[in-house]
Parts: sequence; C-alpha cells; structure tokens
Amino acid sequence: MNRIFSGVQPTGNLHLGNYLGAIKNWVSLQKDFECIFCIVDLHAITIKQNPKELENNTLEVTAAYLASGIDPEKTLIFNQNSVSAHSELTWLLSCFTPLGWLNRMTQFKEKAGKKKDNAVLGLYSYPVLMASDILAYKATHVPVGEDQKQHLELARDIAGSFNKIYNKEFFPIPEPQIFGEATRVMSLRDGKNKMSKSDDSDYSRINITDNKDLINLKIQKAKTDPYPLPSKKEELENRPEVNNLLGIYSALKEEKLDKILNEMAGKEFSEFKKILAELVISKIEPISKKMNDLLKNKDYLKKILKDGKEKADDISSKNLLEIKKTIGLLII
Ligand code: TYM
Repeated sequence: MNRIFSGVQPTGNLHLGNYLGAIKNWVSLQKDFECIFCIVDLHAITIKQNPKELENNTLEVTAAYLASGIDPEKTLIFNQNSVSAHSELTWLLSCFTPLGWLNRMTQFKEKAGKKKDNAVLGLYSYPVLMASDILAYKATHVPVGEDQKQHLELARDIAGSFNKIYNKEFFPIPEPQIFGEATRVMSLRDGKNKMSKSDDSDYSRINITDNKDLINLKIQKAKTDPYPLPSKKEELENRPEVNNLLGIYSALKEEKLDKILNEMAGKEFSEFKKILAELVISKIEPISKKMNDLLKNKDYLKKILKDGKEKADDISSKNLLEIKKTIGLLII
C-alpha cells in the first residue's frame, strides 16, 4: 500500500516556496495516494513561539491546506501535538539514532549558528521527530521541497537500521518526492538564499496571504540583472535570480522550463515581471481569499483537525504498539 505523509510548520508567513515545493504537489498526489498532511506544531516550538500566534498560525496552515485544494473527505489533516504517537515514537527512535548522524544535519548548523551551546535539544533532535512523523504511519512516500532532503535521508537510515536490528521489513523505506520546476524557491532579494519564513525582509518572499498590490510590488522590486532573458538553460547558470523567477513562472504555469525559455527569450525584465505578477496573482489570490473565508469559521477548521486526529490516532497507535512489542517493551 502506498501512503504519503508530509507537513508544514505553523510558524507564520506561509510563502510561495511552501506552496510550490510542497502543498501544490500534494493536491495532485491525492488522486493516487492515501495522504496524511500534518500541521507540525511540535516542530514549530523548537524555536521560540508566541502562544497566541502559534495557535492562530496552526489554524492558518489548516485553512491554507483546504484553500489550496486538500480534500478533507479523502485526506487526513491534523495537528501534530494532538496525536501522542509522534512524541512517544521520537523517544523510541532516538535510542536508535547515532549522534554522528545528527551531527551531519546542515539545518541544525544553520539555525543554531555560532551559539551552538544555547541551542535547545529539540532543535538538534528535530530530524528524529520528523522521522517519527513518517514512520508512525509506515508512510512509503514523502513529498517535500529540496531543503528537507537531508532530513528524509536520516528517516530512511533510521528505518533501515531498525529493520536490520530486528531482522524484519518492519518499516517501508520512505521515498522522497521532490518534483516540479520549483523544488527550491529562492529569495526575491538574493537568488543564492532560499525563500524563507524567517527572512527579515518581507520583500524576499511572496506570502500566501499577500494581496494583489503587494504581490505586484514585490515582483517589480525583485532583484534581476541588466541582460535580457536567455533562451537556453545553460545561460541561467550564473544568473540565480533570473533562474528563480523563471522557475516560479514555469511551476505555476505547469509547463517545462525549456518551453518557457522559448517563449520569453529576449524579453526585457519589465515585460516579463508584468506577465509573472499576473500569473502569481491569478494563482495565489483565490487561495488567499478562500483562506480568509475559512478563517472566519474557526470551529469548522477545528472540526477538520479533530476528525483527522481521530483517524491518525487510530493508525499510529497500532503501529506504535507493534514497535514497542518488537523492541521487547512489556505491554500491560
Ligand atoms: P517547513 O515548514 O519548513 O516547510 C514546509 C514545506 O515547504 C517546503 N519549502 C520549500 N520548498 C521550495 N522552496 C522553498 N524555498 C521552500 N521552503 C520550504 C519544505 O521543503 C517543506 O516540504 N521539517 C519540515 C516539516 C515536517 C515534515 C515532516 C515534512 C515535519 N515532519 C515529515 C515531511 C515529512 C519543515 O520544517 O518544513
């Protein structure tokens, strides 16, 4: 059986990178897979959160899932803390994760920065929680943006190591699904940095909640270079900002980059930016409008999360029990 698990942190500023790298792909995957999409609030608290904002952001991500086309009739949507198997399995799997594996994680190094001693344990062991999310459901596929690739490799290593120790194919080895023309959307201000929720400059990203005028302004201000648009992929190599804008266009238009390059070759940026802004607005504005409507009915959103939680609990608690028995923990 093929089962998908993926998630987004409710840390605010949900942006075009989250949409193109993850949520947009999830919508189409619902056709062919049993899907579980989580709002990973336990991951969010690995950095300091304002309690009221965290609660609101959790509902905002729920609304974003629904507004983008995740169908709660066929797909499980829930928030991570409401299903206790995630935390419990994290402890169990942390007893199977060598420190050497965690020491390789580049995201920890980036987030902890120079003050490593002040970084919290949760930030360091975050990839084990992510592995538990996936393995608690024995998920076979995980659709994510490119930045999560290393964490996913760790989840695969943990699953493989557990299987080997107990000499059985207990966990499927989860396959990453990293696809589309925008697996790594970059900052609009600097094509060498990832578009991120935590960038100080709001002009670095298009937020899912931005209105038409703001999207227009951000795209007009996006960094480019003085040359016209190229006709071949190879010519994009040293033009990261141009590569990024074309990637965004191609992913939203759902057409291959080669085709887009054919259409756009030789155009001035002023013209391309106008076309790009129109396309981004036409795709993002309906989502943002729907989100605003959904957020007026918080009880409805909570009901979706509650239904999802019950089903998620059902699947994960059974798997957790099997894992505990495999390890030899006495179940009373
Ligand atoms: P998070 O919340 O940082 O991001 C959510 C999803 O958005 C993708 N993404 C991007 N894709 C393309 N370009 C970008 N600039 C960009 N920024 C973010 C991410 O790759 C991700 O798919 N640890 C994860 C959440 C998580 C998870 C899981 C994912 C927790 N448990 C289990 C899969 C399976 C995270 O922090 O994503």
